[in-house]
Amino acid sequence: MDGRSRLRGSRRERGPGPGASPREETSLSADAGVVPGPPGPRKSAAEWTAVVLAAGRGTRMRSSRPKVLHEVAGRPMLALVVEAARGAGLRRTVVVAAPESRAQLAAAAGGGDPERLRVAVQREQLGTGHAALCAREAAEGSEHVLLTYGDLPLLSASTLAGLMERHLSRGATLTFLTATLDDPTGYGRVRRREGRASGIVEERDADAATRAEREVNAGLYAARAEWLWPALAALEPAPRGEIYLTDLVGRAAAEGECVETWQLRDPAEARQVNTRAELASAEQALRARVRRELMESGVTLVDPATTFVDVGVEVGPDTRLRPGVHLSGRTRVGAGCEIGPNAVLLDMEVGERCRIEGATLRSSTLRDDVEVGPYCVVRPGCVLGERVHLGSYAELKNTQVGAGSRIGHFSYVGDSEVGAEVNIGAGVVTANYDGERKHATRIGDGAFIGSDTTLVAPVTVGAGAYTAAGAVVVRDVAPGERVAGVPARVLRRSGDGGRGERSAVDEEV
Ligand code: UD1
Ligand code: CA
Repeated sequence: MDGRSRLRGSRRERGPGPGASPREETSLSADAGVVPGPPGPRKSAAEWTAVVLAAGRGTRMRSSRPKVLHEVAGRPMLALVVEAARGAGLRRTVVVAAPESRAQLAAAAGGGDPERLRVAVQREQLGTGHAALCAREAAEGSEHVLLTYGDLPLLSASTLAGLMERHLSRGATLTFLTATLDDPTGYGRVRRREGRASGIVEERDADAATRAEREVNAGLYAARAEWLWPALAALEPAPRGEIYLTDLVGRAAAEGECVETWQLRDPAEARQVNTRAELASAEQALRARVRRELMESGVTLVDPATTFVDVGVEVGPDTRLRPGVHLSGRTRVGAGCEIGPNAVLLDMEVGERCRIEGATLRSSTLRDDVEVGPYCVVRPGCVLGERVHLGSYAELKNTQVGAGSRIGHFSYVGDSEVGAEVNIGAGVVTANYDGERKHATRIGDGAFIGSDTTLVAPVTVGAGAYTAAGAVVVRDVAPGERVAGVPARVLRRSGDGGRGERSAVDEEV
């Protein structure tokens, strides 16, 4: 059975693939009633290679950065497209890059395993058809190819899977995604003959009547490899000299090959980014999708419009995000937290039931039940143990803080190891930098660091030790020892022997 007869037989009987968002096309009902043939062979996504075209100059962005590396909802567009392909189960992805951006694009696309990601170089930007052909060698051995562009940040894995499923179930030679847009400006228009796609006309080559058509080429194609590569090699340049990938459609139709289309239900997925204005609107659309998914999964967004969560961030149920919260990068937040207003978290790992007010936190870990007050800054490399409390205006960097410790008021703690149940008073500073090198501070469990103490690193304050207000500690303090003064000296135990006499600087030994 050739592709066409299989197509005829199966049109009505097979619905969209699992999880597919596009809908069955109404324009293809012409031969309803034909006796169905046997189902087409189902092939796993492993027999496919994804090809992502990303070598264009992106001149309309007016940027020194390759267009596909501009970020949408916190991720480079190219990474979003490559992740959608992986999400659809494709084993291998080939990214077509310009020679100068090869390494950058490979890194953004996840690099690593060459079996999963390959970069093919397009030396001269001669058009999308030429770019696709550049992937031929790297895509060798796969039976079907899923081609798309690196400037489509909203395409979902389920749409990719849906298109692949349709392509296979119809036994098509070429299947492409379409969308019906209120404003089709900037897209190729789909040309049909008796309901069947017969070509794509690029906007720049279209007459007024064609431009008025609202059915557009959304930029995702599935093709049988055996037909695809010679067909690409045979494409002629368009009148302006570019070789258009879209000319494949007219070619396949003219050869009598089976060409299928698949229409997006949510046309927002077709959003492309050619300009900065389109970048901003793709950003809005993707952020809206992320917010919707969070709310569906049980997260409260008090004010969705001012809550900015990057793609890929994870948030546990019953966490409440108050206005002005930004969760960026690889951040993961546990359940039952209260964050904001006006908190910024980047690459953070946050446990359960934490409360974070208007603070800035980066590349650090908070265990469960941690509190971070307003105007605190947690810089990279910190680990705050369970129930740690940061009050206001505390700055921490590269510091471990043990369970139950408190840093209540404006202070700087850097390159430090702080034990459990330690109290760090107002204005405490670790002087960790001598002008040349950084040094470490160690504070043992249960120590009490009095207000305005300066700990001149490298220095160790033992467990249960005590520094009086205003002490400048330049030498190690033994466990249980009490020091005071500038520079700090050991205090003799006074009458009551306890911490009751924290101002007893006159009792030097
Ligand atoms: C393309 C389609 C258009 C479709 C639209 C959907 C063509 C000819 N036109 O138009 O029908 O409606 O996308 O989004 O394909 N690229 C290369 N090498 C090149 C040229 C481009 O790798 O020589 C890459 C670009 O980096 C980009 C992608 O191909 O990621 C698409 O190129 P772009 O210039 O954005 O195509 P459009 O004109 O938007
Ligand atoms: Ca484009």
